[in-house]
Amino acid sequence: MGLKETVKALEKIGFSEIYLTQGVSEKKQPKGKRELLEELFSSYRNCTKCPLHKSRTQVVFGDGNPDSPVVFVGEAPGEDEDRQGRPFVGRAGKYLNQKIEQVLSLKREDVYITNVCKCRPPENRKPTPAEINACFPYLRKELSIIKPKVICCLGATAAEGILGKKLSITKVRGQVRPYPYDPSVKVFLTYHPAFILRNPKSDGEFVEDMKKLKELAGL
Ligand code: URA
Repeated sequence: MGLKETVKALEKIGFSEIYLTQGVSEKKQPKGKRELLEELFSSYRNCTKCPLHKSRTQVVFGDGNPDSPVVFVGEAPGEDEDRQGRPFVGRAGKYLNQKIEQVLSLKREDVYITNVCKCRPPENRKPTPAEINACFPYLRKELSIIKPKVICCLGATAAEGILGKKLSITKVRGQVRPYPYDPSVKVFLTYHPAFILRNPKSDGEFVEDMKKLKELAGL
């Protein structure tokens, strides 16, 4: 029955006034971190802001637990990551997973892992400053959704991208800086896992840094 017919029928049985409402408005639940990240990822799935889109297989999003107090930030996807669409799944990733388990006593899925540059540079070269700058708004948004206690920069490229200045990772490793876009978030600096694989003597320093990270993040 349409509205007109309903009103007539109600009048017939004695109703003289009828109040129409639009229903009780349901309070909208705020979007969760996963939903916000999904939206962010869909917005850059087809990104063409830098030349890396021409050679990539796919954009490699961050993954893991968005409620983690720690976000690991690497450089850029390599060949394995570009193929599988997940960050740190190659040799460097296996090393990182091992340290997450052994030192932080967590599983990889318990933390969040991403990169300053979301597309693979050809021949695994370092991303250029222009490529990092083109990608930075995505990383910044990603971090503002997660709002971790600590951003752990893996290597100089990640540290320079996050802090916006040149540095020597051997000089600053193990140190903490404020995150320029939210000084309540700590930026912790350490080596890139691929560097440790090439320089196994530095494994002890990386373990030392992971212990510091554990404390900083309150793990
Ligand atoms: N894999 C990544 O995802 N990032 C790196 O920086 C290195 C390997």
